[in-house]
Amino acid sequence: MLLLAPDGRVALANSAAETFLNVSQPQLVERGWEWLFPEDSPVRSLVQESRESRNDIAAYDLVVEFAGGRRARTDVLVGRLPDQEGWLALSFQPRAVTSLVEKQKGQQGAARSAIGVAAMLAHEIKNPLSGIRGAAQLLAEAADRDGKELTGLIISEVDRVRALIDRMEGFTDTRPRTLQRENIHSVLGHVRMLAEAGFGSDLKFRERYDPSLPPVMGDRDGLVQTFLNLIKNAVEASPAGGTVTITTAFRQGFRMRAHGTSARVSLPLEVCIIDEGEGAPPQIADHLFEPFVSARRGGTGLGLALVAKIVGDHGGIVEYDRRQGRTVFRVLLPLAPDEE
Ligand SMILES: Nc1ncnc2c1ncn2[C@@H]1O[C@H](COP(=O)(O)OP(=O)(O)O)[C@@H](O)[C@H]1O
Ligand SMILES: [Mg+2]
Repeated sequence: MLLLAPDGRVALANSAAETFLNVSQPQLVERGWEWLFPEDSPVRSLVQESRESRNDIAAYDLVVEFAGGRRARTDVLVGRLPDQEGWLALSFQPRAVTSLVEKQKGQQGAARSAIGVAAMLAHEIKNPLSGIRGAAQLLAEAADRDGKELTGLIISEVDRVRALIDRMEGFTDTRPRTLQRENIHSVLGHVRMLAEAGFGSDLKFRERYDPSLPPVMGDRDGLVQTFLNLIKNAVEASPAGGTVTITTAFRQGFRMRAHGTSARVSLPLEVCIIDEGEGAPPQIADHLFEPFVSARRGGTGLGLALVAKIVGDHGGIVEYDRRQGRTVFRVLLPLAPDEE
């Protein structure tokens, strides 16, 4: 981490920065930081862009070249300091440990492998299920009271399995989504209404929206499903009488490398679903978005896997975080292009 004064000088560098940049703090203070990077380095342009646009900027997964030819894979974050006009914190996060982006790709991979399984199961199990259900109904006609109880059990269990499969079929649809301009607040309002009328009727809902948010590029049904799943989980995790908070914000400067290209897409639309529960059990916290991971009795572990798939289909990302004793699921989505 480097602290840059308004005139571009290095005011401070921590020891991790000395190691990463391979220079000492006195050298940094004396000679500045720019000479460390070639003229056309993205690090230089990010700092400049942040100064000019007066925004925090994060670029993930850059291959940064140093003067002299050394390269490093790193995230670069440029942040302004509150109440210190012109001061910037320039930080590098070398990508040694599994990165956010890779995790997301892993999640998408997991979701894709689940697609095959789900498609096969849906097909192979659903057909015989109707046969079993029909046979149980026939048996029930001739059965005594005990027998009727048992055939009733068969029918209700068959229905439960069928409902599970119906839910899994969310994965088996691999057709590309048709994305169009959607108002995210209208999607969230709809979901909130569904939640308040049903599974969330005992809780309070609070909205903190940025009303000036431009439209998202999305598939309305997919977005409804995404936020419904997240809010359902938040409701299930909430203490009695708790509050589920839904926030939206415009966050400039979050970029991610688009699939298969070196282009960086910007994901400025942020939606957070926040609850006051305890968070996910630590042993599954790193695997929440994988299919069949659940810590809930009767849970399927498909809700968040579907969320990851849909958000991925939108080119966005979703993260789980704990912040000030609260659970935050953060979804970042791309903006709809200008209308023309
Ligand atoms: N808001 C939340 N707070 C705490 N834990 C959560 C939250 N959302 C999800 N989880 C954890 O993630 C698991 C997986 O969620 P999900 O994929 O929706 O499956 P399910 O709800 O069927 O268990 C849940 O079982 C729960 O342990
Ligand atoms: Mg769930």
